[in-house]
Amino acid sequence: MRRAALATAVLACTALGATLLPSAAQAADTPLRDLAAAKGVYVGNAVAGGKLSGNAQYSGVAGTQFNSLTPENAMKWGSVEPTRGSFNWAEADQIVAFAQAHNQQVRGHTLVWHSQNPSWLTNGGFGATELRGILQQHIATEVGRYQGKIYAWDVLNELFNEDGTYRSSPWYGTLGVGFVADSLTWAHQADPAAKLYINDYNVEGLGAKSDALYNLVRSLKAQGAPIDGVGFQAHFILGQLPSTLQANLQRFADLGVDVAITELDVRMQTPATDAKLAQQGSDYATVVKACLAVTRCRGITAWDVSDADSWVPSVFSGYGAATLYDEGYQPKPAYRAVATALGGTVSPSPSTSASTSPTPTTSPSPTATATASPTAGTSSPPAGNRCTAAYSVPNQWNTGFSGSVTVSCPAGASLSSWHLDWDFTAGQQLTQAWSGVCTQSGKHVSCANATWNGVVGAGGSVTLGFNGTWAGSNPAPVVTLS
Ligand code: G3I
Repeated sequence: MRRAALATAVLACTALGATLLPSAAQAADTPLRDLAAAKGVYVGNAVAGGKLSGNAQYSGVAGTQFNSLTPENAMKWGSVEPTRGSFNWAEADQIVAFAQAHNQQVRGHTLVWHSQNPSWLTNGGFGATELRGILQQHIATEVGRYQGKIYAWDVLNELFNEDGTYRSSPWYGTLGVGFVADSLTWAHQADPAAKLYINDYNVEGLGAKSDALYNLVRSLKAQGAPIDGVGFQAHFILGQLPSTLQANLQRFADLGVDVAITELDVRMQTPATDAKLAQQGSDYATVVKACLAVTRCRGITAWDVSDADSWVPSVFSGYGAATLYDEGYQPKPAYRAVATALGGTVSPSPSTSASTSPTPTTSPSPTATATASPTAGTSSPPAGNRCTAAYSVPNQWNTGFSGSVTVSCPAGASLSSWHLDWDFTAGQQLTQAWSGVCTQSGKHVSCANATWNGVVGAGGSVTLGFNGTWAGSNPAPVVTLS
């Protein structure tokens, strides 16, 4: 569970070859996903299969910066079941495979919606019994296909009108409100481990629509329906975030459900200016901070990789520039604001710089100074002035978990390489690692830095990420840093 299994192992910094380092900002490139993992949340994006295979800049950003992917359209009813009983899984399968290859979790989106349904469904004129059977069959088939591969499903999407009444849809019109609990139940039967969400927009702050959703979730919990979370889409307009965002997330969490930001973007009237981009950064940071402040907020998903991919201009005439990356896949001030809000520091290269890398230089805070380590070169620094390693399990589910170890150095110490050792004493098994190279032999795990993150500057830190399996219990091990 997020932040529940945090154990800090204080370790002697025995890297005797400690060197003087110019700055932490040059010490490590820390992707958003690693910064997020160190905070106990995930950071995701919405993706299209064709771009993952056909656009190297797009797939590069999607694969390296995010540890969660949401199929933007590929799992919607119209995509997977365009003809009754005939399923097309190609793009959804492709996205799931990409995610698995990049150690990413997947948010399934979406099973029951009023939009993007095939014409055979919307024009079928089905009676209640038949429609209920169609819905059950669709949910069972789709969730069943990806059983064990989807972290969370947006089972139900956009149920309410702005005034809090139920939106008219084939489901509500023919089946009544019972389709909500039924859909959750069928999804749970098909994948008991998946987290089941209701997702909506314009519910981020307090208000009539948010109240309706709140009352529904409270009622579902009272009925014992399998509702695990609420998704807040967060399609915002520049400078117009609800001031009650954090309080609203918290009141839902207090019902006993997870919450997540599921489709974050901040649109502006184009063209973008420096002032608008700065405001956009502030808006993105506000959302990240609100999520971090709510313990049951599991993560943040941005909606679309770059401004070139965004849905916004085609729907809101005159608006755009809503994402973290510009149309050339260069990180925008909003990217840097998100990294900073997640605890990183980012080199001040503007999006207009000559850099061709989609990944700016980041490192977790606190910002290092250029001061020399007073103990560099000979022996372990004294207690309180040592580099340390902190083991954390921010996410754990029935048989698996995602963990991280953050190596941090205080102002007076630094590392030119690092090595981590620990024993999994309860039979846990490492399955994947990133931002480091790990092997497991029996219960012993041994990890070394990747080629690019061995240096940990004075005041800086780097984070190793990994996935594993467990059974029975999953105690935090004692980690040794050398
Ligand atoms: O794939 C066809 C293409 O073959 C055709 O030539 C073209 C012509 O218009 O349309 C293409 O399909 C479009 C599809 O996106 C893929 O690009 C649809 O018309 C278009 O309506 C669809 O828009 C998506 C929209 O949901 C409706 O499903 C957006 O990409 C997607 O970002 C948006 O996402 C929604 C979330 O699911 C729910 N919350 C709101 C969010 C933004 O609207």
